[in-house]
Parts: sequence; C-alpha cells; structure tokens
Amino acid sequence: MSHLLDTLGPAKLPVTFVSGEGALLWDVDGHTWWDFYGGHATALLGQGHPRWVEALTTQANGLSFMTTLADVPVRTRAARALCAFTGLDRAFFVNSGAEANEAALKVARKATGRPVVVAMAGGFHGRTMGAVGVTQGHRHRHLPAHGDVRFVPFGDLPALIEALDDDVAAVITEPIQGTAGVVEPPMGWLAGVKAAANRAGALLIADEVQSGMGRVGAPLASTQQGVSPDIVTLGKSLGAGFPVAAMLCTEAVAATAAPGDHGTTFGGAPLACAAVEATLQILHDEELMVRAQALGSRMQKLLATIRGVVGVRGRGVWIGLVLDRPAAPVAQALRQEHFLVGTSADPTVLRLSPPAVLPPYAIDALAEALQRALHTHTSALQGAA
Ligand SMILES: Cc1ncc(COP(=O)(O)O)c(C=O)c1O
Repeated sequence: MSHLLDTLGPAKLPVTFVSGEGALLWDVDGHTWWDFYGGHATALLGQGHPRWVEALTTQANGLSFMTTLADVPVRTRAARALCAFTGLDRAFFVNSGAEANEAALKVARKATGRPVVVAMAGGFHGRTMGAVGVTQGHRHRHLPAHGDVRFVPFGDLPALIEALDDDVAAVITEPIQGTAGVVEPPMGWLAGVKAAANRAGALLIADEVQSGMGRVGAPLASTQQGVSPDIVTLGKSLGAGFPVAAMLCTEAVAATAAPGDHGTTFGGAPLACAAVEATLQILHDEELMVRAQALGSRMQKLLATIRGVVGVRGRGVWIGLVLDRPAAPVAQALRQEHFLVGTSADPTVLRLSPPAVLPPYAIDALAEALQRALHTHTSALQGAA
C-alpha cells in the first residue's frame, strides 16, 4: 500500500524513475528514456548538471539555512542576477508558482487599494486559494471562488477593456497559456493589455511560471512580445529542479509595500538561491537561450511534417503539438518507446518541454517514434471501426 495521498488517479504515469543525466532518464527496470517533459517543464538544465550540483553542494557545506530576517550573500546575489535577467527591479523569493502568484495578487491589491482582478479564461495559475480563484475552467474551481475576479477570453482585447474599471487592481495572464496547450495570443495583444490596464490604473501581472527563464529562447515570453509587465511571477525552471519561485516587481510597485505586508520561512533559502544563481550563470555561459531557439526550430520543422500533426505552437523548448486525434493514447504509445512527453488541458495537444541541453538528434528520434505512434494509433482506430 502506498502511503502517498493519491491526488492523481489515472493521470499517474505507470513508471518509476530512479536516475538521470542531461535529457536522459533511467527507470527502475533499467530502460533509458528521452525526457521531452523536462520534469514538468522544470529541469531546464537537464538532470544533475555538474555546475548546478557543485553550487548546491558548496552552499549546503557553507550555510544550509538562514532566516530571511538576516542578510545572506547568496540571496542578495540571486535577486540582483534575476532582476538583471528579467529587467524588473525587486525580487521576493517563495517556494512554488502558486505562492508567487499569491504574492503578486496581494501586492497588486495593496499597491492600488482596489479589490478586483481580471483573469483569462483557460489560464492556469496554481492550486492555492488565490491562484485557483484566478484560474477558470480548471477542475479545482469546485472550490469556493476566492476574491473578486472577472474572467475574459484570452486574446480578446475589447473584452478586456470592457472589464476594466476603477475597481480593478490587476490583470493577470500568462503571455502564452501553458497548461491550456501552449496557446499564443494574437500579435500585439499583450502590449494592448499592458497599455489598457495601466490607463485604467491597474497593474499587469505576467505569470511566467511556465514560460519564463529562457524556455522560449528569451528571458521572458512577455519581453519577447515587447512588453514590460509591472509584476512577473517565475517558478518551475527558476531553480532548474530545486523548489524555488519568485515574485518580481518594478520599483514603483515595490514602493507601496510596507514592512510586515508579506513574509515566508523557506522562501529565499540559501540552497534555493544558490540554485537560482547557478541556473542563471549556466544559462548565460552555455548560451542555452540560443540553443533553446535552435532546438525549437528543429522541433517545429521536423514535427510539423508528420501525418496526424495539424499544428505546432510555441517557441524554444516549449512546444504544443496539435494532433488530429486524442493526444493521451499517443503519449502512451510514445512512453512505450521510452519517450516522456506531456499532455495538456486541450485533449488533442501534446506538450513538449525538454531540457535546453537536449541533443538535437533526440528530436529526430522523437519524430520517428511519433510517426510510428501516430501510424499505430491510426491503425488501431481503423481496426476498431
Ligand atoms: C503558468 C503557471 N502558473 C502557476 C503554476 C503553479 O505552479 P506550482 O505548481 O509550482 O504552484 C503553474 C504550474 O503548472 C503554471 O503553469
């Protein structure tokens, strides 16, 4: 009997992983897998990057934990490096993407003195109460709505403008919706959102928990779209596998925060900050954003030509493959060939979020396996008909 609470049911993968190196994984039966899921869009540097391991080991041997009440050099350095990377002014470290969004919602309400948040249909912001409150259409919405929230269709600027008034503190959106199936908004939409929100006295919160940290081939998906949000949230790849997230804001927003407004025990822990600092340094030194772009182009080119693939969305090492059939059986067929891929809220979309250290030939191998999976699955469907 497992002593873990089952919150997954049939979504649980029927595999036990025991080790990994780069973009390779090994399961308990000794099979080698290609990781096109990146440990839940998180392992941007792959498994066990030597410099990441060294940074964590050095920090653990030095100062393994210290309260946020005291200064810690690695926390100061990580905040400085992260602000330089993203173009924001201040960082508040937490432990998960949902917590980063909680902080963002709280800060925006405090900064504006307003109660309402506008959020996007189809967006996903996490599973804590505030984050669920701005997440529509997700199964966690059976919980009581938390906070005063208005939902508008993603990518629809007139609807957003209609929803803005003197009560709105912030607009929260993913620049590209990840869990929805890597859905990109129309060109110029995010810039329109930022301008309209600020005109109405509201702030733009860009949830870059999934899209940020170089995954799209640029530090942030919003800056790639030419937009500087007032608040940005990061998580997942921020520590390349070490649990850490952050809420970043401009100096103007930070100026409204008073002592005691917010706090955390584990957020900004020395080990977490060592992981952030190492991740940023490795991204820079190994030119991984350039590599992410090249890998993205190769995935777009090779996968788009496969029969059964009707669309390829996304950028860099973050791709939504739109299929002409349900994606779950195709993901399962790929697993049988030891390729780990993700699915999404859209039942026809496979989500790929491999590490940026993936060797290009792994994409060729995936393309061949996908071709076989789609062929087999088509044959199975035809056989059943
Ligand atoms: C865009 C976005 N925001 C927030 C979250 C929540 O992050 P976490 O699971 O670390 O709380 C996720 C997780 O998938 C996400 O994709």
